[in-house]
Amino acid sequence: MRRSTVWHPFTQHAVAPLPIKIASADGAYLVAEDGRRIFDGISSWWVVTHGHRHAPIVEAIKRQADTLDQVIFAGFTHAPAEETATKLLQLVTRSLGTSDLAHVFYSDSGSTAVEVALKMALGYWRHSGETRTRIIAFEHAYHGDTVGTMSAGARGIFNAPYEPMLFDVARIPFPEAGREEATLAELERLVTEEPTAALIVEPLVLGAGGMLMYPAAVLRQLFEIAKAHGALVIADEVMTGFGRTGTAFACEQACVTPDILCVAKGLTGGVIPLAATLSTRAIFDAHYSTDRTKTFFHSSSYTANPIACAAASANLDIWLNEPVIERIAALAAMQAERLASLGGDWRFTNLRQTGTIAALDVVVGDGGYLAGIGPKLYERFIAADVLLRPLGNTVYVMPPYCTTAADLGRVSAAIRSAADAVA
Ligand SMILES: Cc1ncc(COP(=O)(O)O)c(C=O)c1O
Repeated sequence: MRRSTVWHPFTQHAVAPLPIKIASADGAYLVAEDGRRIFDGISSWWVVTHGHRHAPIVEAIKRQADTLDQVIFAGFTHAPAEETATKLLQLVTRSLGTSDLAHVFYSDSGSTAVEVALKMALGYWRHSGETRTRIIAFEHAYHGDTVGTMSAGARGIFNAPYEPMLFDVARIPFPEAGREEATLAELERLVTEEPTAALIVEPLVLGAGGMLMYPAAVLRQLFEIAKAHGALVIADEVMTGFGRTGTAFACEQACVTPDILCVAKGLTGGVIPLAATLSTRAIFDAHYSTDRTKTFFHSSSYTANPIACAAASANLDIWLNEPVIERIAALAAMQAERLASLGGDWRFTNLRQTGTIAALDVVVGDGGYLAGIGPKLYERFIAADVLLRPLGNTVYVMPPYCTTAADLGRVSAAIRSAADAVA
């Protein structure tokens, strides 16, 4: 019997191993109560960027906690929120070359950032007096676990029980290598068939859908088709943002600027929850009116919490003033080397990499998220003091940026020996 007072996320308590109690963290490592040092190969669910407890961010949090802890964000503002917005727009503009993004709306998770984006898009069309409600999204997309984001995400085991609550979304196929034209043609057909409110994309990498990667040129064409038909484009950079794909934001590689940009996880360096939804002036202006019914009606109690904003502001200083891109490039090169070392092994297929993210599929009869091999691999990795959390038979490595070649050597050895053990 594995009943637990604490109900853990994405955890089947009836079959999952007991959770490991973590006492502290440091750089790329989690330290368990029993002293084990576990390499954090998935950046604690894709959030930690520079490393755990990165000193300038921790210091900023301490300073802020001593000054202003929390204040309602309607009718009030504060320096950490103002500074974070300014620096975030600066970083986005530097990354994307030019950017029409001009406004920052705060929330507290990736899901809420996307939920806000969907509401902004529909609000924009309604307040502009045009009837456009169609949302177009990828097959295999994942945008979060709230009702709106589940609706935009792929339908499957994650959300089957909640199907009656979900709204309809039009789908384009994932642009598999060699089948990109089918994706572009379907988008063209959908935007021509009905006026579209917004296309929502995970740029370059679909994360929870299986670390599916597609080229920047395709992302660019998707933007062009959507924009040619007046649809807004929402870039969900909750996972890809803050360097994961090799550039500050993935959209940079396609030379595109979305109408709405969602960021979360790495915004504070992965230390404390904070999210932001950036919009163009046009979207803000559609809500800007003496008619109070056009107010953007969204908030949460902790919107723009000062301590979280102070962490984000310190993180943005690092991005604006330190050679983070060079560090990421070095990590990407190390990842490429380790991936190549696994390349000749017949048990691994579809080896792929975008920036700091490397992934491969273990050859099995039953693929998909519930593939039996996933939990077995996980247990083997943990036994080797490496945290990797396979998505079914897909094993991916998304490490913090302070990871060393020796760390990655341990990871690839763990992947090889786990594959030996479960063969
Ligand atoms: C692309 C993408 N969007 C949204 C989310 C949801 O973020 P959160 O878990 O912070 O709600 C995730 C989480 O993994 C994600 O990968």
